[in-house]
Amino acid sequence: MKYRKDLKDMPSYDGVERDYRIKVNANECNLNLPPLVEERVLSRLSRIAFNRYPNYEYDALREQIARNFSVDKEQILIGGGSSEIIEKLFYAFGGSDSHKIVYPQPSFSMYKIYAKAAEAQPVPFDLDDKYDIDVDKFIAAVNDNEAALAVVCNPNNPTGNVLSIDEIEEIAKNVKCAFLVDEAYVEFYGKSSVNLIKKYPNLIVARTFSKAYGLAGARVGYMIARSEVTDMIAKTYMPYHMNTLSLATADIVYQMRDEFVPRIQMMIAERKRISEQLQKLNGVKVYPSSTNFVLMKYDKAVALNEHLESLNIGVRSFGAAPRLENCLRISMGTRAENDECFNVIKNFVQP
Ligand SMILES: Cc1ncc(COP(=O)(O)O)c(C=O)c1O
Repeated sequence: MKYRKDLKDMPSYDGVERDYRIKVNANECNLNLPPLVEERVLSRLSRIAFNRYPNYEYDALREQIARNFSVDKEQILIGGGSSEIIEKLFYAFGGSDSHKIVYPQPSFSMYKIYAKAAEAQPVPFDLDDKYDIDVDKFIAAVNDNEAALAVVCNPNNPTGNVLSIDEIEEIAKNVKCAFLVDEAYVEFYGKSSVNLIKKYPNLIVARTFSKAYGLAGARVGYMIARSEVTDMIAKTYMPYHMNTLSLATADIVYQMRDEFVPRIQMMIAERKRISEQLQKLNGVKVYPSSTNFVLMKYDKAVALNEHLESLNIGVRSFGAAPRLENCLRISMGTRAENDECFNVIKNFVQP
């Protein structure tokens, strides 16, 4: 078989999926759509023109998002999850080994894979001992490498910590290349970099409907940037890349986003509650999080993960992954799910 060059050596996404009884391994929302939203989505879907390409629905969602951020419709691109947004962005800035993409490590594991897929050169930048980015060193790494694209994940997955908007501005101002801020978890942090786009033409923000808006199954994400940037990135998409069902669903969800506020607040409260409880356990270290998940470190994390799995509870274990040794990432589920997961951990750690 004559596959594409380097495909065999391409790393695969390292997440293992299983239908757990308590599934807190993928930072999803564990509640389905609020009933009122679901009703409106189903009613909208019953009126879909299945025979037509999705022109109208694409523009309607773009316009709605643009209005919310007070930007032009042309500044918004919609993709199949923020995954497609990031993949296409990397493709747009890649294409040659001399095009370097600098991204934090540890962070979202797909950055490396997308950089390789885009035939760019991946350049990981090490977070410090607290998993923070040293902003000056990051800027220096980006500029010294003459990077084509710099990336940060804010808040960062899987560590949960954040850069302030001032720090993001400092990076946007000083890097001599395009700068992507991946805001997949921003609704749990509450501070977005989008307003900086007015000031910094190199800034690009990626967002998703998969986390706070519980729409991981529909695969919808979007990016916001200057229109000269979106015009270029748009060239990497095929025509009609988004399907009408997902666009119409996301359109209703976005119209009704106020319905999601109580559950976002609930997840933030649960994150605080579970972090505090875990922190009290002997030998457990919990990292500060501004997301819908908590990262904990514990000497016997691998055995603890096996125990959780035996009870059909799925958390994300990082095993021996560099800089994440003995770390478990636990997404916030419902209060009952979080309680059960915590109690299993507690009884394992302090039998
Ligand atoms: C930091 C980050 N960015 C992007 C994504 C991709 O999400 P989606 O494609 O569902 O929007 C994820 C998913 O876990 C993520 O953690």
